[in-house]
Amino acid sequence: MKAILYLSTLTEDLSRDELKEIQTKSAIKNKALGVSGYLYFDGAKFLQYIEGEEDTLMPLVKLIREDPRHTFLVETEEDIEEARFPEWSMKNIQSLTMELGLVEKTIIQTLSIFVDKGYGLDKGISRDLFKLMDHLKAVTF
Ligand SMILES: Cc1cc2nc3c(=O)[nH]c(=O)nc-3n(C[C@H](O)[C@H](O)[C@H](O)COP(=O)(O)O)c2cc1C
Repeated sequence: MKAILYLSTLTEDLSRDELKEIQTKSAIKNKALGVSGYLYFDGAKFLQYIEGEEDTLMPLVKLIREDPRHTFLVETEEDIEEARFPEWSMKNIQSLTMELGLVEKTIIQTLSIFVDKGYGLDKGISRDLFKLMDHLKAVTF
């Protein structure tokens, strides 16, 4: 299995309804595909973690990457033995509790610094970012 974590930026303003629609449609489609993960939006940037079998996940991520509503800034991937969030077809943590925003903000800030400086994400940083996802798993219900 593979996990992908990416940061993207909005290309056009989306209304609340449009954002909600992305989330609802994604949840339905991901569930059907056996893909899980979550999507966080901070008002300007999306942070998405998505995981699944490579054959299913990679074509889906290609589709998401080509979606004109946003532009990928940086992405990283890791091989995983099992899904971190098998029960989340597309969770939006923001709607659960505000406090959790800290973990996502840390990931967004770290990724943004790498984008701004034009650095590639090395293995160590990438591993740490995915470790933060484990933290998210621990604090979310
Ligand atoms: C930030 C963002 C995240 C998205 N995440 C997903 C996702 O997890 N799953 C999904 O099926 N579509 C997702 N989409 C939508 C896809 O880009 C694409 O529009 C959709 O999969 C097309 O599905 P359809 O061809 O079945 O209509 C996302 C779009 C955006 C802008």
